[in-house]
Amino acid sequence: MQNFKQFIGSFSFDGRLAEVDINSSVAHTKMLVKAKIVNTSDGEKIISGLTSILRDIEGGWKLPEEEDIHYAIEKELIKRVGPIGGKMHTARSRNDQIATDLRVYLKQEIKIIVNLINDFQEVLVTKAEENIDVIMPGFTHLQPAQPVLAAHHLLAYVWMMQRDKERLNDCYRRTDVLPLGSAALAGTSFNIDRQYTAQLLNFKDVSENSLDAVSDRDFAMEFVFCMSLTVLHLTRFCEEIILWMNPEFDYIKIDDKFTSGSSIMPQKRNPDSAEVIRGKSGRIIGDLVALFTIMKSLPLTYNRDLQEDKQPVFDSLDNLKLCLEVIKEMVDSLEFIEERALKSTEKGFIAATEIADYLARKNVPFRLAHGIVKNIVLYCKKNSKTLNELSLEEYSKFSRLFKKDVFKYLNTKSIANMKTSYGGTSKKSVLHQIENIKNKLKLEVLEVKVK
Ligand code: ARG
Repeated sequence: MQNFKQFIGSFSFDGRLAEVDINSSVAHTKMLVKAKIVNTSDGEKIISGLTSILRDIEGGWKLPEEEDIHYAIEKELIKRVGPIGGKMHTARSRNDQIATDLRVYLKQEIKIIVNLINDFQEVLVTKAEENIDVIMPGFTHLQPAQPVLAAHHLLAYVWMMQRDKERLNDCYRRTDVLPLGSAALAGTSFNIDRQYTAQLLNFKDVSENSLDAVSDRDFAMEFVFCMSLTVLHLTRFCEEIILWMNPEFDYIKIDDKFTSGSSIMPQKRNPDSAEVIRGKSGRIIGDLVALFTIMKSLPLTYNRDLQEDKQPVFDSLDNLKLCLEVIKEMVDSLEFIEERALKSTEKGFIAATEIADYLARKNVPFRLAHGIVKNIVLYCKKNSKTLNELSLEEYSKFSRLFKKDVFKYLNTKSIANMKTSYGGTSKKSVLHQIENIKNKLKLEVLEVKVK
């Protein structure tokens, strides 16, 4: 093996932790000075050395390669300030250091991702408002079921995203616990002040058990679960965008820049962006499985296997962020083809439930009404007619309770707007829903900014 250090190390993928690693070291050093473990003058030299390294990295300078980012920074510090740089590592280990770095990093990322989700929700809500009068078939089993407002359909994703944000906020709470000061596994005999470090690094709590603190990756797994579930929600929407763009449906158009043509078939517009998001879910969910597999059966405490956590965590968040940005723009460009969507509601006997409800309101037990309308649908199919095309005489053959007003229940737009129950698809209910979500979104933007 040529480069064993490279094999056991993580330098090729933990470089993005340089900034949080340096900030954590600055906080740790301040604590060591406050606790009189390191004297003020050494502490100041260490901190200014660390700050100069950070400035250089930000300016594009590359840290010389080491086994990992922690060693690389420490070595560079000692090079710049002399052997006293080595005092920085008093009362800590790389085990509590990496657990801290990852938590700080994920806390930042959670905020960024929550904001991205919020932006996407705002686009969806605006689309819903703009298309409040668009009616389309709602599906169960991917078969036409009942007419719904397109806005109602879009808003369903806003609520999914809302729960995704709530989950991330929850994950944030559990990530907001400082492991630093647990040292390698047992804590330290130095008289450290972990509360002070927590305060400097903006952690709400400090960990209670050093063994748990250096080996726990629940927070990272939970985070990648949040990435997985969010992308899974996106894939459901992407799948629908793909279907709706298919000429058999033809409900929507999206901007050409999100599609591609075919090198051989001139007529094609392929929904590539939606497909790539759908495809990327494979790797993000794969990242979650990777973490589960790494953690399974791992004895306490730190084991080097844990080093393999970083790539799945980074991969999942990088890819989810890309997906969120793309889907936001794609949906922003989405236009409903209103007449096509409405036309589609006239197929598939989508008013059948309404006719059954009509009879049920006239005191026919719903189960019986269901059977009657089933026969009407069979009759229509046999005679190649739609429910709209039957005469009152034909309806009367199935039940004497049918009167002229039955035709009111065949207009799909009014059917949708009759669903006035709370959370239903009527325009009235949907407008109420929009009010509610808008208030929530406003609140959240504030919350995220305050943190
Ligand atoms: N690069 C390591 C990681 O990512 C840092 C911790 C190393 N600890 C150790 N005892 N070898 O997990």
